[in-house]
Amino acid sequence: MILVTGGAGFIGSNFVLDWLDRDGDPVVNLDALTYAGNLRNLAALDGDPRHRFVRGDIGDRALVATLLAEHRPRAVLNFAAESHVDRSISGPEAFLRTNVMGTLALLESVRAYWATLPDPERAAFRFLQVSTDEVFGSLAPDAPAFTEQHRYEPNSPYAASKASADHLVRAWHHTYGLPVLTTNCSNNYGPYHFPEKLIPLMIVNALAGKPLPVYGDGRQVRDWLYVGDHCSAIRAVLARGRPGQTYNVGGWNEQANIDIVRQICALLDELKPDPAGPYARLITHVADRPGHDRRYAIDARRIEAELGWRPAETFASGLRRTVQWYLEHADWVREVQSGAYREWIARQYGPAAAA
Ligand code: NAD
Ligand code: DAU
Repeated sequence: MILVTGGAGFIGSNFVLDWLDRDGDPVVNLDALTYAGNLRNLAALDGDPRHRFVRGDIGDRALVATLLAEHRPRAVLNFAAESHVDRSISGPEAFLRTNVMGTLALLESVRAYWATLPDPERAAFRFLQVSTDEVFGSLAPDAPAFTEQHRYEPNSPYAASKASADHLVRAWHHTYGLPVLTTNCSNNYGPYHFPEKLIPLMIVNALAGKPLPVYGDGRQVRDWLYVGDHCSAIRAVLARGRPGQTYNVGGWNEQANIDIVRQICALLDELKPDPAGPYARLITHVADRPGHDRRYAIDARRIEAELGWRPAETFASGLRRTVQWYLEHADWVREVQSGAYREWIARQYGPAAAA
């Protein structure tokens, strides 16, 4: 048995589906079902006795203690977080609540449970923190990619909250000996990605004939990784990672935002041509994100050398699969575009964007 938190979100749900597809141990899935959590992502597991979903907060110590005592997991994987940088700029509190205080509460619940385990379960237990490359800050155009030794320089409230959580996880290892693992991954994309983030937002807006809002000059660079590759990296770190170690995970795939948007437009021109003309006509430059990090890039040599992990998907094949998934899942898109989603879009991009 493993306990996964945030397993109804984008990466968490992909992880749980992949894990059980590969006959992994049964999963207890604890998720608060915020706006970003969606049980429909897990519909393929309806009635599957290997998956137990529990709606709840990682900060609820009584609930987490009960789940740990009842299910006695051999590992806890913490995906739960507030994850959207723009939302952290307009409302940082929720990020501190879940990403910092929630992680603290989870670490304390897990530490109490871990202390009760007999050997060898105690030695074999793992706490895996799913973190991000954003904790490292922004790179100059010609600077080498982030290694695990790069200093923490978080620039957004989201990044600062994830950096704080990483420090807590590290301290719980150093001080209490909790066997922790941390992964720092670059930008993911793929199925079930909530359409507030760049790639799914551009796909759903293009299909609706709406403007494609590119922040600033669009030359900011991210290192994109197909979500299935992030899941395989987490499986490798959980199975063979060294306790106390951190692992950078990335796609060796740096792309400027504007180039991503153009590639999405080209794929849609091929797969679902718009009689009104090429989708690129919808590209619109809008005001930049405050404090916008210019470039992220991951040096993933440690995880390759120690654990033999490399991404399997190319960006061309992964992006095509992703665009196809959104074309085939219009009902999923419609459902997540609820009232709350429209309120966010109106606040961020103006009322016309939400119409
Ligand atoms: P997401 O926003 O899609 O999903 C987050 C999930 O956590 C949701 O299901 C939500 O309901 C749940 N959640 C939020 N607060 C909770 C709480 N207090 N208790 C329990 N559940 C709660 O996020 P994602 O993109 O899937 O990211 C998952 C993790 O991976 C996050 O920790 C994020 O920082 C990290 N990460 C994301 C990316 C990326 O590109 N998306 C890259 C690197 C790391
Ligand atoms: O690097 C890992 C991080 O990647 C994760 O930790 C975060 O949880 C995840 O949200 C993501 O953060 P980004 O800020 O990089 O992702 P986002 O999709 O929000 O934006 C990607 C780039 O696209 C960024 O440079 C901002 C830009 N952008 C984004 C949106 C939503 C636009 O130009 N227009 C937009 O409308």
